Amino acid sequence: MKYFFLLLCCALTSCSQNKRLAEVNQYSDDPHSFSKPSEVQVKHLDLNLQVDFDKKLLTGKASWTIANLSGADSIIFDTRGLEIERVSLSDSTENAEYVLGPEDKLLGKALKIKINKDTDRVTVWYSTSPDAAAVQWLNPQQTAGKKHPFLFTQSQAILARTWLPCQDSPGIRFTYNATVSVPKDLLAIMSAENPLKKNEAGIYQFIQPKAIPSYLMALAVGDLEFKAIDDRTGVYAEPVSLKAAAWEFADMGKMVNSAEKLYGPYQWGRYDVVVLPPSFPFGGMENPMLTFVTPTVIAGDRSLVSLIAHELAHSWSGNLVTNATWDDFWLNEGFTVYFERRIVEDVYGEEESKMQEVLGHEALKETMADLGHSHEDTRLHLELAGRDPDEGMTDIAYEKGYFFLRALEDAVGRERMDAFLKEYFAKHAFQSLTTEQFVTYLDQHLLNGDEALRAKISVEEWIYKPGIPAGMPVAVSNQFSLIDSVVIAWKKEVRSEGLKSHLKSANEQLYLIKRLPQSLSVSDMTKIDQEFGFTQSGNAELNAAWFLHAIRNQYQVANPAIEEFLIRVGRRKFIIPLYTEMAGTDEGKRWAKKVYKQARPNYHSVSYNTIDDLLEN
Ligand code: BES
Ligand code: ZN
Repeated sequence: MKYFFLLLCCALTSCSQNKRLAEVNQYSDDPHSFSKPSEVQVKHLDLNLQVDFDKKLLTGKASWTIANLSGADSIIFDTRGLEIERVSLSDSTENAEYVLGPEDKLLGKALKIKINKDTDRVTVWYSTSPDAAAVQWLNPQQTAGKKHPFLFTQSQAILARTWLPCQDSPGIRFTYNATVSVPKDLLAIMSAENPLKKNEAGIYQFIQPKAIPSYLMALAVGDLEFKAIDDRTGVYAEPVSLKAAAWEFADMGKMVNSAEKLYGPYQWGRYDVVVLPPSFPFGGMENPMLTFVTPTVIAGDRSLVSLIAHELAHSWSGNLVTNATWDDFWLNEGFTVYFERRIVEDVYGEEESKMQEVLGHEALKETMADLGHSHEDTRLHLELAGRDPDEGMTDIAYEKGYFFLRALEDAVGRERMDAFLKEYFAKHAFQSLTTEQFVTYLDQHLLNGDEALRAKISVEEWIYKPGIPAGMPVAVSNQFSLIDSVVIAWKKEVRSEGLKSHLKSANEQLYLIKRLPQSLSVSDMTKIDQEFGFTQSGNAELNAAWFLHAIRNQYQVANPAIEEFLIRVGRRKFIIPLYTEMAGTDEGKRWAKKVYKQARPNYHSVSYNTIDDLLEN
């Protein structure tokens, strides 16, 4: 159907634009969207929302400027849990005809609106449901300041449709303007040009002049203040956290400069970060112009700021050049991890990036072992039709993706690799790519028909086959190799005193924790904890890794800290392994359920849905 449409267009009109579309098809079939963008596409959104904290509702209208490419008689939007009040077309005030399709638990309902060939705008009056999956409504107790409520959205992967009717596919882009009304003492900010401070009216205007896909629509509302880092970077946080946040992220400006030096100009104007409450289910989310981050990256020593490098890198890999469907997720994350480590190398030195590469390799090995080397989700190109895209979003996309790019770099040399990537971003700016289109581009612009080179890095195997390919680059960090010998000596004679003076950085300590034997006596655990203080550490990465040993080895001294952590922190990467470890024994599972009962109200839907399944709630 898609190809038929393209052929027809070529026959009827001058073909140049369609040729480009055929080459880099922005509108590939997306199994996670009901929309039919090859017939009618959204181009621009005017969004007007009122935020009601008492009712937990967003109410208002989404007015979409559309291009009816095929003279279609209807346009289809994705919705999930939305209450549609009415619909109108172009400048008419009259109600237009629409139907909501049958409900799919995962995808929601198709909203089909009758249009004619001249319709250039459709407006949908609607409200969200109080349990909209993208939105988390927090009471004052769940914030840092404890005085005001807070709200944030998380749209990736297919949750934008739970707070606005949209063509919810990463292959479809639009610009947007928004007006958001909030209670007077709160500030609203979005993935757009943002206000610097609160105003009396509580009404905020936003402009996102660059075309973005729906999964990058984002809104946060809370008692937020802004602090500049330099001319184009800054931090939003609750007043009590602002100073610490600005200190932690002081290198943001340097990171943007470094990224530009590597792969071309930053295209989004400002780069700011907002620190959310600890229930935020991710480490970070690359919402354009305004990265959302968990407060668990604020360790007090800048040891976890590579997360900012990661989200910043998405301003190129992801936000500028976007995966066409969630099957192509590795194009977003694998490229971003590669780019992240290049920024880290430039700003913090090679040893730091090497350490992170080794930690990434460890994570990849763990995921491979968990899934099994022949599991279909260990392929870079995924097949997620009929499944929740979240299921495929594992370390495979991140780390196997990263090591594939490292293998390419090793094969062609850094200079050619960098020239290739820079051109890749420039040529596909504001477009989406499928894995197939990337492979074609790679062939034409890097491998250049060099069969020997193509055989050497076996692109097919990396992308379409499960497991770890034979040509996997080796990750080595000299500092970590030293720790390996420390651990060997330690296993012979458990003496922890003085160890800390050799292992000062968070990276080294994290590596040590990961290298400890799975089975440890309570006395060993006690000695290590006395030396390093992992149970009470303010570094959430160390806490989470250490608590896994504590649970497995029944180091019960840590139990209160584990419970406090699980109740406070909603970051999925930390809490899922912890609950999984707890659920390993009957007694542990009872404990997990008890803690979860208290913790669940604090989690965002993307976290509690997974843990409900895990603990069979
Ligand atoms: N875009 C992702 C977060 C995401 C992935 C949200 C899939 C929804 C579905 C973000 O860029 C990310 O990768 N975050 C990581 C941090 C990073 C340093 C690896 C995270 O949250 O842990
Ligand atoms: Zn990412």
